[in-house]
Formats: sequence, structure tokens, C-alpha cells
Amino acid sequence: MFILVAHTPKGGSGKSTLAREVAVSGTMAGLTVALADLDPQGTTSGWFRRRAAEAPVLVRFEPTDTGAELAAAGVDLLVVDTPPGQPPYLRQLLGRADLVLVPVRPTPDDLLGAAPIARSLAGRQWAFVLSQVPARSRLTDSAVRQLAALGRVAPAHLGFRADFPAAAIEGKAAVEFTGKAADEVRDLFAYTQTMMEERNAPTEI
Ligand SMILES: Nc1ncnc2c1ncn2[C@@H]1O[C@H](COP(=O)(O)OP(=O)(O)O)[C@@H](O)[C@H]1O
Ligand SMILES: [Mg+2]
Repeated sequence: MFILVAHTPKGGSGKSTLAREVAVSGTMAGLTVALADLDPQGTTSGWFRRRAAEAPVLVRFEPTDTGAELAAAGVDLLVVDTPPGQPPYLRQLLGRADLVLVPVRPTPDDLLGAAPIARSLAGRQWAFVLSQVPARSRLTDSAVRQLAALGRVAPAHLGFRADFPAAAIEGKAAVEFTGKAADEVRDLFAYTQTMMEERNAPTEI
């Protein structure tokens, strides 16, 4: 089982949106996907209650769990949505992650927090994902440059698009519709899949 954690201490950057889009993409790709909501605000749990489709499943996952039970139950991909801030279990959770995706808006406020996040993830498999990217903004190129100096930046960005909140109204993901938002999520998921394949690749002797 591959554990993907959506994390940044900054609220509103797009953790829950990213987690849901990736989880639904995994389901659409034929994987057995579980989604865990560690945020007491319950954004993703609320989304799941509004969702008609049965997959991905929402599971209880304690941050200190290894995930062995879910893996034994046949889950291929566990996507973990996290609260803002730095909960006490964060280090342990990040240590269990096969991939940490860090959404960052191309704003001075989000960029200010990028260096400490990069430091906290040193030695792990992780990448920034630019999120809520406005159309035609010089800020974006500059943000990519600044982030690339600190760590990996996913080659696919999520634009600031109404499809993301609109899809969430009925517990859906934008990737389930057609349009630019869906294209962006597909590209981002393709990147995630390359990271999954890298982890699963046999080690050369
Ligand atoms: N790419 C996007 N385009 C437009 N709105 C977005 C996008 N990503 C997130 N949002 C909206 O921004 C708000 C915060 O996003 P959310 O994913 O809940 O962030 P977090 O979980 O980091 O607090 C939500 O209302 C969400 O619908
Ligand atoms: Mg959230």
C-alpha cells in the first residue's frame, strides 16, 4: 500500500481539495483507494457524506497506525488529509508517508512558509504542488523558481478554478467532470503514479 499525505501547516492552501482529487483519480485508475480525514474540522468527511459513489472509501486511520490492516484489506492507495498547523503526531505520520504533497498558493503569504516546510520534510519523498494558480500571473513563474530552490515542484499545477468547489458541493471531484480542472488533476495524478512506480520498482542488485 502506498501512503500519500496532503500536508502543509497553512490553512486554505488546498490540502483537502488535493487529497480528494488524488483519491478519486486513483479510483478512476482502477486502484482500491481509501481516504482518511485527520482534520477535526471534518472537511473531507463532510464531502464524503455528500458523495453518492462508494469509492474511494473513507476510513478511520489513527495517525500512529502503520496502515497494515488497510494494506491487508487490499487498499492500494491511502490518501491522508491533514489539519492545518503542526499536530503532535505529524513527524510520525510524515515518517510513514511514501509521498507527501504540499499544496502552495503562489502568494507571498504561502511562499513565506515554504522554507520551514521544506526543512521539516528533508530526507523524505515529497513535492510542492502549486495550487489555486490564477490565470496569467507573473507570481506563478516566480513562485516556481522560489519553490524549486527548496525542493521538488510537481510539474502539474492546479489552477484557481470554480470546478473544484463546484464539484465538492455534491461530494464529487473536479476530475470526474470534463474541463481544465480535470486535465490538471489527471496530469498531477500521472505524476503521483510515477512516484508510486518509483517506490515499487525492484531494487537493482
Ligand atoms: N484549485 C482551486 N481552485 C479554486 N478553489 C480552490 C482550489 N483549491 C481549493 N479551493 C477552495 O479553497 C478553499 C480551501 O481549500 P482546501 O482544499 O479546503 O484547503 P485546506 O484543506 O488546505 O485548508 C476551499 O473552499 C476550496 O474549495
Ligand atoms: Mg482541509
